[in-house]
Amino acid sequence: MSVRKRSLLKVIVLGDSGVGKTSLMNQYVHKKFNQQYKATIGADFVTKEIQIEDRLVTLQIWDTAGQERFQSLGVAFYRGADCCVLVYDVNVLKSFDTLDNWHDEFLKQANVSDPQTFPFILLGNKVDIDGGNSRVVSQKKAKEWCASRGNIPYFETSAKEDINVDTAFICVAKTALANE
Ligand code: GTP
Ligand code: MG
Repeated sequence: MSVRKRSLLKVIVLGDSGVGKTSLMNQYVHKKFNQQYKATIGADFVTKEIQIEDRLVTLQIWDTAGQERFQSLGVAFYRGADCCVLVYDVNVLKSFDTLDNWHDEFLKQANVSDPQTFPFILLGNKVDIDGGNSRVVSQKKAKEWCASRGNIPYFETSAKEDINVDTAFICVAKTALANE
């Protein structure tokens, strides 16, 4: 299909330190995974072009720091966002419990026109660990949270094994486009 329209979409990735935000982005954009943890400082973006129906979409994906002491740049980066990707680690309860906080802070700081309809996506990452045996947050619980927040799409991912990473970002693009 020929490309008729172009869109630039600004996507912000948020979540606790260590949940795998940088890894998910690296897997999606560069098809690479690094076992070694290196904390993100401040925020930076990468871009990826994908075609969605007759549209050429440039995803501008902003990776942010989960560690509080590196978060100071936050606010300015949220402005003009088209979609917010929230990430938690299915093996770490605290990273799930802080989702409310990330969600509400984002809406407060991004100053979006309609908080009720703003596109979020939730990713439960690291489903590969221990073959799923060390999971502490059930799929049911995650889906309930998504329902309570206005039917946020939910994916279980592994940046390491490349599970659902493409699918999740295609959903990001489609959801953001639908809200344009
Ligand atoms: P901050 O930059 O501090 O906010 O952390 P982050 O959310 O960017 O986490 P990062 O991507 O740096 O990953 C943290 C650690 O978890 C690294 O050692 C990664 O290799 C590892 N990791 C990330 N995703 C996965 C995954 O899907 N499975 C497994 N087994 N390990 C992962
Ligand atoms: Mg990072």
